[in-house]
Amino acid sequence: MMIETATDRGKREAAEAAVAEIESGMLVGLGTGSTAAFAISALGKRIRDGLRVTTVGTSRATEAAARAAGIAMLDFADVAQTDLVIDGADEIDPAFRAIKGGGGAMLREKIVARSAARMICVVDATKPVATLGTRPVPIEVLPFARSFVCDAVRALGGEPVVRLAANGAPALSDQSNLLIDCRFGPIMDPADLARELTAVAGMLGHGLFLDEIDALFIGRGQGIERLERHIKS
Ligand code: A5P
Repeated sequence: MMIETATDRGKREAAEAAVAEIESGMLVGLGTGSTAAFAISALGKRIRDGLRVTTVGTSRATEAAARAAGIAMLDFADVAQTDLVIDGADEIDPAFRAIKGGGGAMLREKIVARSAARMICVVDATKPVATLGTRPVPIEVLPFARSFVCDAVRALGGEPVVRLAANGAPALSDQSNLLIDCRFGPIMDPADLARELTAVAGMLGHGLFLDEIDALFIGRGQGIERLERHIKS
C-alpha cells in the first residue's frame, strides 16, 4: 500500500472539502493539476453515490481523467456560465491572488474561472505565500512571437525560460502554443504586472489570477482552513 505524504493528504482534504459543496444540478468547472485530480476522484465517487451534475474541464488531461471517473462533460465552447469551479494554484497570497499554470493550462483555467459564480482554490500548506513571485509566472505564447515576447518580458524585469517537455522539445499547450516561465522575483504590484503582460502582442494568457478566486481551502494534513473573500474586487 502506498503511504500518503502530508502534502498529498493536504491536497486531498482541500479537494474533498470543495467537492462537498457541489449540489445536484450544478454545472461544475474542473481544474487541472494534482490537487484538482483529487477533486475529480472525489466527484466521481459522489456521482456513483447518486449526485447528478454536468461538468466542463480546463484541459484535455482533466477531460480524460473526468471521463475515466465516469463524470459527464460538456464542451466548454457551448457553455457561457458555470456554477462552481474547483482548481489548484502554484502559490497564493493573503489577498487570494495566485500564480497558476504549473501544468500549462492557465489560459483555459482563467476562462473557466471567469465563467464561474464561485471559484474555490484548493491547495496544500506549501502553496500560501506572503508575496507572489517565489515561482515563475507562466505565459502562453504564440510560437511566431517567441523572441518578441521574451524580449518584452525582459524589459519588464523578468527572466523568460521556454518550458521543455521530457523529450527536450518545447512543451506545448492544449492550443499548441509555447509555455514560457517568467521569473520576476517578488511581485510587489501583481495588478500592474498583469496589465503589462496583457499588453504584449503575442502573449495569449498569463498565470496571474488576481480577482477570480472566491474561497481558499488549505489542506494542512490535519484539518482544513477555509477562507472566504468577502469583497470581490
Ligand atoms: C495547472 O495549469 C495549474 O494552474 C495548476 O492548478 C497548478 O499548477 C497547481 O497544480 P498542483 O495542484 O499539481 O500543484
